[in-house]
Amino acid sequence: MRQIIVALLLVITVVALIVAAFTISQVNREDQRLKSDLQYRSTLLAESLKETVEPNFINKSDVYLQSMVEKFTDKERFAGVGIYDNKGNVVAASATIPEATSAASEIVANAMDADKANGGFSTFGERKVYLLAVPLRNDQSVVGALMVVQNANYIDDRINEIWKNNLIRLLVQAFLLSLAILLLLRWIIYQPIKSLVETLRMARSGDMVQDPGQITNSLLFRPLIKEVSSIKRSLLEARSTASEEARLRLEKLDSPWTAQRLKEFMLDILKGRSIFMVSNREPYIHTKKGGKISYYFPASGMVTAIEPIMQACGGTWIAYGSGDADKLIVNRNDKIKVPPDEPKYTLKRVWLTKEEEVGYYDGFCNEGLWPLCHISHTRPIFRKEDWEKYKEVNQKFADAVLAEIKNQERPIILIQDFHLALVPRMIKTERPGAVVGLFWHIPWPNPESFSICPWKRELLDGILGSDVIGFHTQLHCNNFIETVGRELESLIDFEQFTVTRNNHTSSVKPFPISIAFPNGLAKDDPNSKMEGEKILKELKINTKYIGIGVDRLDYTKGILERFKAIEIFLSKYPLYQSDFTFIQIAAPSRTTVKKYQEFAKEVRQEADRINSVFKAHGSKPIVLMERHHSHEEVQIFYKLANICLVTSLHDGMNLVAKEFIAARDDEKGVLILSQYTGASRELKDAILVNPYNGEQTAEAIKTSLEMKPSEQTKRMRNLREVIKNYNIYRWSAELLKAIVKLG
Ligand code: G6P
Repeated sequence: MRQIIVALLLVITVVALIVAAFTISQVNREDQRLKSDLQYRSTLLAESLKETVEPNFINKSDVYLQSMVEKFTDKERFAGVGIYDNKGNVVAASATIPEATSAASEIVANAMDADKANGGFSTFGERKVYLLAVPLRNDQSVVGALMVVQNANYIDDRINEIWKNNLIRLLVQAFLLSLAILLLLRWIIYQPIKSLVETLRMARSGDMVQDPGQITNSLLFRPLIKEVSSIKRSLLEARSTASEEARLRLEKLDSPWTAQRLKEFMLDILKGRSIFMVSNREPYIHTKKGGKISYYFPASGMVTAIEPIMQACGGTWIAYGSGDADKLIVNRNDKIKVPPDEPKYTLKRVWLTKEEEVGYYDGFCNEGLWPLCHISHTRPIFRKEDWEKYKEVNQKFADAVLAEIKNQERPIILIQDFHLALVPRMIKTERPGAVVGLFWHIPWPNPESFSICPWKRELLDGILGSDVIGFHTQLHCNNFIETVGRELESLIDFEQFTVTRNNHTSSVKPFPISIAFPNGLAKDDPNSKMEGEKILKELKINTKYIGIGVDRLDYTKGILERFKAIEIFLSKYPLYQSDFTFIQIAAPSRTTVKKYQEFAKEVRQEADRINSVFKAHGSKPIVLMERHHSHEEVQIFYKLANICLVTSLHDGMNLVAKEFIAARDDEKGVLILSQYTGASRELKDAILVNPYNGEQTAEAIKTSLEMKPSEQTKRMRNLREVIKNYNIYRWSAELLKAIVKLG
């Protein structure tokens, strides 16, 4: 408060000084103007009177002179006239002029001596006057003088008035300015700061906290709000981790894994060894829009799973820098600390040329291996030139890893997914002492399906460079081992699930991947409820039931089959037509690949077609939201949905199913899950469907919408228990345990 008063006083003083300077200058100008005006008028008057007085003065007509003098007395500002002989004696004078004042005598004498007009200011009693004397002459010499007297009081009055007006203006200005400053301080500074302080206080004391960005949208405080949001998040995370830890100490040893527990576990088993994560997709993609660089988190199950591990344990993640601004913000070693807002580990970017991207990523990975491994009836395309690029890029990644581990004695390298199948062998050849793990995030097909790949042996050999090969399910492990047995000469131990080839043994194991749970988000956040209601209002959705689907626009996800099931459901149970809306969040994916372009178009057309079927009944059952959504945005949709549909035609795991469950801390909502996802092996309390069977999925939708709240809660509780017991921290602990055991 004291600072505010000092600031106000300072502002008022500055304004007062400005007003005073301005007034002084105005007063001077006005004073000068009025005086010269008065002098000018006096001169005109004196000259005109002189013409009349001069002849009468010479003829000594004193009576006439006195009567003339009387005529001019007290006319407006005119105070009187005096006529003097050459000795300075009064010949005739207005009664208003005092007999003799020294000032008047001096002015008259000087005018006669100099033989020219002479004037000056003086006072007659209380009055301020201006005196102007002109000499009276006969032909040769000065014989007397005529003096006109003008009132000059009005000049002082005018000057006083200016001072008074400006003083009033100053007071009004000071008052308004102080008021404006106080209001501005209150709205722009005091209120937002108060809200920020309150947010932090609540976060510290563990109360329900709103995001400061929602409390205040002050532009001025945006950077501060961002920082406070991060602090708030860290506090909440720390609090939830701490409470989990506390619980852990009290409960049995196999109780939930947390980031903190993983961190301690890693420290314990790694004993100073470093971990290097390698994948094609990077966790943070930087892009440039209108000269401003920003980043986003890609829609990738692999990234969703791996990122929390890196955040918990630190280390280096080597990945392809695919963003158009990625190169602009790395250091000279192509590295950047991430997460950008709160760095916890290092991301090293590998650069690919356009040709490499087209051949390796679009071609061999997405047109070849992806459909090969997913049994979803899309034919794989194998081109020799794509395979060449695949080998080239795998070598590039291997070289990047080798450069990073140059000075590491026994590094641990964790390679992710089908993009980098050749990297394990490439690393092992150069650094046999390095321990290499490969996790295959997508399904491994049966040996017959895999056998169509022209470079199947090279791929298998590359993978078998790993010490540990992980899949989501036992079925995928079985398929892999059988494929190896069929394609390569090797020793397979079906009991231990190992493959030995050229004196090197690879262990093949299932590690069902999961998500970060608990994820540190506030329980039953009222914000998200409000946000949800706001979003539904914006989307003009006011139906009683909401269904949600969250997928990349990928033909393996069964989006068309899902839409068809919704159509069957609404046709079969028309009462739901005005009661049910399905929101499909569709993240654009692999948009340079033709099949994906065609698929995205088909999804749009199918949504339009179904919407037009039900248009006549006044409903729009499918809302297709085709854009990238942040993790936070998707959470809101998960929370507002009555059902979540995951209808993949084939999926390694499917983390959307697990994210939906994690988001439902209200223990409500029903998950409808394809039996062809890895997740269906664990999530037995979901309603399992065959996505190719539209009628069955339609029935599942009805059953879910009509499920009693108590039944929903029972199922959701069980589902949450599964994820709590096997979250991403436990997944990585088990994978690392298996790896470290070997080297
Ligand atoms: C699957 C793969 C991931 C991949 C993701 C997104 O989940 O297993 O490795 O990152 O799809 O695909 P994208 O091609 O965009 O990386």
